[in-house]
Amino acid sequence: MSISKKEYKRVTTNSLIEMKSRGEKISMLTAYDFSMAKIVDQAGMDVILVGDSASNVMAGHETTLPITLDQMIYHASSVVRAVQRALVVVDLPFGSYQSDPKEALRSAIRIMKESGAHAIKVEGGYQIKDSVKRILNAGIPVMGHLGLTPQSIYKFGTYTVRAKEEQEAEQLLNDAQMLEKLGCFGIVLEKIPAQLAAKVARSVQIPIIGIGAGDQVDGQVLVIHDMIGMTTEFSPRFLRRYLNLFETMTTAITKYVLDVKSNDFPNSEEQY
Ligand code: KIV
Repeated sequence: MSISKKEYKRVTTNSLIEMKSRGEKISMLTAYDFSMAKIVDQAGMDVILVGDSASNVMAGHETTLPITLDQMIYHASSVVRAVQRALVVVDLPFGSYQSDPKEALRSAIRIMKESGAHAIKVEGGYQIKDSVKRILNAGIPVMGHLGLTPQSIYKFGTYTVRAKEEQEAEQLLNDAQMLEKLGCFGIVLEKIPAQLAAKVARSVQIPIIGIGAGDQVDGQVLVIHDMIGMTTEFSPRFLRRYLNLFETMTTAITKYVLDVKSNDFPNSEEQY
């Protein structure tokens, strides 16, 4: 399905909740720049996430921790300029919301004002309750993120599946219900057992979007660079690669190098 210019009706936080209630699955994918966001939006994506995974796939950092609020605003504003239909959600980066609710609100306001995005996403449950409340009270839509939360990687120590033990699973369920009660419009669940994700999705009215959380949730999200095969070294079980863009691009770029070196490019038609 591709959306023509006249056909689109903007996706809102309310339309996502309605999609859940009528059993329509929600599609979500990351994007970090204008050109990619334009393609993703026109392909009919419901939600575009300007994820702090930009720290990995755009900047080459090992973790999501180094990316700054200014850098997230730069990526988000590029995406917003391209998007006509999808809901644009932006990650609050590490360090911009955990220490104090007032700072969290200031960070969220900067994202909304300076990028024109529609909502923000934060990682964590009860520990960040006051920050979530404060942001919601200002009228800014908030999406939660539970399970494997990459901003806490140094606490976890590994990127392995979370909430396999009963105590952590129970805490995650409580956190999801708390985020719904506070007024979040959706939650991302990352890398947790499918059964637990299904239980969480059944226990709340707001959409649960999974990444490595099985098929019994309300939608799916992937990082675009992984999904189109631009990255090659990251191959978790949950990832489906729809393209091998790394190979396609390497072939094309190698051919260009050869064409330049052999004086095949430009030919007589390709000059003035
Ligand atoms: O930053 C990101 O891309 C994310 C997704 C993995 C959900 O948070």
